Amino acid sequence: METIKIAKAPAYTSPNPMTLICTRKSDGTTNLATLAFWTYASTNPGKIMFALNKGAYSLELLAKTKEVVLTVPGVDMAGALIGCGTSSGRDTNKVEKLGLAMKSVEGTDIQIPVSTRLAIHAAVVETVDADDHVIHVCDVKNLFADDSVEAIFGWNGYAELAGAQKK
Ligand SMILES: Cc1cc2nc3c(=O)[nH]c(=O)nc-3n(C[C@H](O)[C@H](O)[C@H](O)COP(=O)(O)O)c2cc1C
Repeated sequence: METIKIAKAPAYTSPNPMTLICTRKSDGTTNLATLAFWTYASTNPGKIMFALNKGAYSLELLAKTKEVVLTVPGVDMAGALIGCGTSSGRDTNKVEKLGLAMKSVEGTDIQIPVSTRLAIHAAVVETVDADDHVIHVCDVKNLFADDSVEAIFGWNGYAELAGAQKK
């Protein structure tokens, strides 16, 4: 085996699940940010957790609202994942800029992209400092799934975004 840096590790765990973290801005619109560092954390009760970098506007929004919808986007969302992961909602309305069609889900006024395979509506209950990121532990409130939408994954780390194939 060879010694590697952590930045190279995701290339060895590909395909990596990709999500969009959807949060509510003060004007009621949705901010979208690309997020790979998430996982299920408990099943009873349902919990998820994810790590947000300390420069992210999503971090500020969540500190105020404590409410999030984490979505697994469809395979057609490669461009949106790049756009939402390389600009900040602080100075950009990403939904408008990327021309994304949005929809409502029950129980929240945070809108999500139409192209969504799985949506997890959750409340932040705890945060943990993790140096350049902040880990958010959340209680799951509702899950919505659509089997007809194919999920997108990060390949070669996150260098390529595409569907998964069985070997
Ligand atoms: C493929 C990819 C994966 C990313 N994964 C994460 C992640 O897991 N956590 C994170 O904080 N930022 C991640 N980012 C970076 C954020 O999406 C980026 O900082 C974004 O500008 C934050 O948007 P905001 O300022 O509107 O919150 C990722 C970006 C890309 C392109």
